[in-house]
Amino acid sequence: MKKSSISAVLAALLWCAAPISASAQAQAQAPEPQPIISGWARALPSLSRNGMVVSQERTASQVGLDILKAGGNAVDAAVAVGFALAVTLPRAGNIGGGGFMLVHLAGSAKTVAIDYRETAPASTSRDVFLDENGAYSAQKAQSSGLAVGVPGTVAGLAMAHARYGSGRFSLADLIAPAIALAREGVLVDDDLADSLPHAERRLGRWPATRKIFFRPDGRVLGRGDRLMQPELAETLAAIARLGPSGFYEGATAERLVAAVASAGGRMTLEDVRDYRAVEREPVRGRFRGREILSMPPPSSGGVHIIQILNVLEGFPLAEWGQNSARTIHVMAEAMKHAYADRAEHLGDPDFATVPVRGLTSPAYAARIRERISLESATPAKQIRPGHPHAFESDQTTHFSVVDKDGNAVSNTYTLNFSYGLGLVVEGAGFLLNNELDDFAAAPGAANAYGMLGGAANAPGPGKRPLSSMSPTIVLENGEVALVTGSPGGSRIITIVLQALLDMIEHGMNPAESAISPRVHHQWSPDELRTERGLSPDTIRLLEGKGHAVRVQPTIGSIQTIQRREGWLYGASDTRQRGGGALGY
Ligand code: DON
Repeated sequence: MKKSSISAVLAALLWCAAPISASAQAQAQAPEPQPIISGWARALPSLSRNGMVVSQERTASQVGLDILKAGGNAVDAAVAVGFALAVTLPRAGNIGGGGFMLVHLAGSAKTVAIDYRETAPASTSRDVFLDENGAYSAQKAQSSGLAVGVPGTVAGLAMAHARYGSGRFSLADLIAPAIALAREGVLVDDDLADSLPHAERRLGRWPATRKIFFRPDGRVLGRGDRLMQPELAETLAAIARLGPSGFYEGATAERLVAAVASAGGRMTLEDVRDYRAVEREPVRGRFRGREILSMPPPSSGGVHIIQILNVLEGFPLAEWGQNSARTIHVMAEAMKHAYADRAEHLGDPDFATVPVRGLTSPAYAARIRERISLESATPAKQIRPGHPHAFESDQTTHFSVVDKDGNAVSNTYTLNFSYGLGLVVEGAGFLLNNELDDFAAAPGAANAYGMLGGAANAPGPGKRPLSSMSPTIVLENGEVALVTGSPGGSRIITIVLQALLDMIEHGMNPAESAISPRVHHQWSPDELRTERGLSPDTIRLLEGKGHAVRVQPTIGSIQTIQRREGWLYGASDTRQRGGGALGY
């Protein structure tokens, strides 16, 4: 725990223990609200009063905090964090990928969703990821230039700044810390040192990538080395000078197109020039009197979090207890229905009609609830997508920001795999995504996360592949109460769901929620995945109900800020090294 949190907790304890002085004095000077730290808590969040940034990498959190302290709002800080993570957390932070941002503006009580998901080049055909026998080709969909979508991050961050920044900082001001970090280099420790060896084979395929991430002796950089990114610094400087056209036009665009072509892709200068971020209405739901706001299609995250919460609202989970067999059982059953619907109905809303209202309606959830037996698991093959008209590792990254005025940003962005395609754009210094594997290459063909899909998520020119990224904001009485999100591929939806249940239903603080064992069911495969930490008794009870329980490596990396009575409580998931929940 950080020093500031320790002193705040001590202050709270001392305040509780202080003798009650004259009541007149107490009335004249109402005490400041004190942080609510339960004596039962086994994990404590960071505390602050004025503003907080929680991200997966501490230097980037510090960049955001500096902007908040200098008078920036949550959006200014988020934009600066977004660019900084592209330098300090290159496996997921990016300018060569895409993502989603939710912005809540306290003044106008308005929440907007910025969709900066990558788009497929105009040359993308329905069967682009199939081999000569018509079967899904992981090589094409995950490891070639065909997998690269036109990056959206620069357009998205620039849109957020232009529309919702405080006006006190130029885009160049917010990019400046990232440029300095790229130019001066960052020490390889924590996340970089842990993640680079795992990606060595993917990265080592490309000379432009080796130049940056490898030592002269041919091995990836290790603990204590310095990651220098001078070409990335120049690209960031071009964006600072020219705005998004410093990325989407001119030399950077030409280098991007050449890099994609060198890896067998077919992206054109027009594809890049025509990229647009899109502002959308968040998807909305209610759970236990709170308003849940999350990402609409082309992410599936918000729709299915709300769908599952609607189903679960009919069960007394708080009474049953967090992670009891009964609670996990009904969660898993609700997850199966949601992921079956995802495979059938979800896709880019600009190309397919997505029944968002039906999927998120409490009446539809009631139908699903009727089909859930408390005694036994329904085999996934008996669950079909409904009629609502009427995996591996954590390579995406999320950050949450709240400022002193109660504005909030919840942002998840990604390159898809760790370090994306692994290909750095020669001369421009940034890594490219392999996001187009999130399309359904063919009916019945599972992608890297085991996800199935249909026509609604088929590859096509200009389309955005379906995502699971779920940046989420919860409002209580119209004010921000929670800001959260996580990486985790197909599991993001259930990770964020469990964080919401932990804090709303089970009364946990963000740190307690972050350390709780997580579970996941995605309909196909028909298995209930769990982390270590569930008791053997609980697992036996779940198996007794018919669940195929698989204990597997960790799930997700949640980055949460909770806001209660003037205090901010932050927690960066402990499943990864190097995160930072920093406030002032
Ligand atoms: O958009 C999606 O759903 C995936 N491309 C996200 C990938 C991801 O979270 C990888 N990290 N675990």
